[in-house]
Amino acid sequence: MTDLANDQSFVKFDRVQKSYDGENLVVKDLNLAMPKGEFLTMLGPSGSGKTTCLMMLAGFETATHGEILLDGKPINNIPPHKRGIGMVFQNYALFPHMTVAENLAFPLEVRKLDKSVREEKVKRALDMVQMGAFGGRRPAQLSGGQQQRIALARALVFEPELVLMDEPLGALDKQLREHMQFEITRLAHDLGITTVYVTHDQTEALTMSDRVAVFEDGRIQQLAPPDTLYEEPENSFVAQFIGENNTLEGVVTEMKGDGLCEVKLDGGEIIYAKPVNVTKAGDRTRVSIRPERVEMNKERLQEGAHTLKAEVLEFIYMGDIFRTRLRVAGNEEFVVKTRNAPDQPRLTPGTQLEIGWLPEDCRALDA
Ligand SMILES: Nc1ncnc2c1ncn2[C@@H]1O[C@H](COP(=O)(O)OP(=O)(O)OP(=O)(O)O)[C@@H](O)[C@H]1O
Ligand SMILES: [Mg+2]
Repeated sequence: MTDLANDQSFVKFDRVQKSYDGENLVVKDLNLAMPKGEFLTMLGPSGSGKTTCLMMLAGFETATHGEILLDGKPINNIPPHKRGIGMVFQNYALFPHMTVAENLAFPLEVRKLDKSVREEKVKRALDMVQMGAFGGRRPAQLSGGQQQRIALARALVFEPELVLMDEPLGALDKQLREHMQFEITRLAHDLGITTVYVTHDQTEALTMSDRVAVFEDGRIQQLAPPDTLYEEPENSFVAQFIGENNTLEGVVTEMKGDGLCEVKLDGGEIIYAKPVNVTKAGDRTRVSIRPERVEMNKERLQEGAHTLKAEVLEFIYMGDIFRTRLRVAGNEEFVVKTRNAPDQPRLTPGTQLEIGWLPEDCRALDA
């Protein structure tokens, strides 16, 4: 809690730990600072501690160690309803006995706003989620997506500065989910709301967020904007978790002076890669390369690319792209994605070819 006067962060987790049973830490050492207006997503596998973090911020759980600050003030001792936080949870049901409008008016009544002000705010919130005509209905008379939009409107109706969302779109079909993703980010930006969003859908995290915190086992593995996370994963876990990745295992044989290292793959092939968390010759490494950075058309290989022999095992036509599975350096799950274009061949299993990529697109990570 040092130097708060100079600390611009609106939400801050400072060395936060959490244990439910007094023994196992499910949140291990969480440090996170969010500026006002940021849309931050917590992404990670089941059980990695995302909901627990949200619950501590909301005030339904207390931190075992460390401190949580909101707008520079510690909130450990402020009860949930006094934190002024809007919430949308996957199973955070609407009140079934109330109409849509009454559901929305509820948080305003709790805050003792006048009837005329309440009515105006409810109307605006309904319009915001394009549900203006549905104020008189009960939740049971709405589709799942409409209910979700009302839940969103209810979280925003009292104009909170901070909104927490825990897998709010989990139950929706793909099309509606994509529409709501757009709606939520638009509202959050238009209203200048600071948002902490939880999901285990990585596409959702990448498309919606200013920054993404990748959780694993109670720790943030990497905290970065979507493009950095995808293009510059800092370790093997993040590289595997975000997007698709090909990995080739081997050992570093030389750290070169030009920002690359030489790696001898377990099958004996030599390749070059960017050293990310290897430091010296002899380090075991997993080299990672994205499927869309691999070139299968020899004519198009750029200067400086190195090549490896490959055999086509499977070719899948996916409409906009082709997905080819290859055997490369002993790895039978090596995937290449190519754009569906007239000059991209459709390959048959058994075809032998040479593939290649730029060493800069290749990252030498922890083994
Ligand atoms: N109330 C509780 N009492 C005891 N243990 C709990 C409690 N809530 C969560 N846990 C444990 O804490 C760990 C983190 O759970 P948490 O719900 O934060 O994970 P999550 O990342 O939200 O997972 P999911 O993606 O499945 O929702 C898990 O091992 C879980 O079993
Ligand atoms: Mg959860």
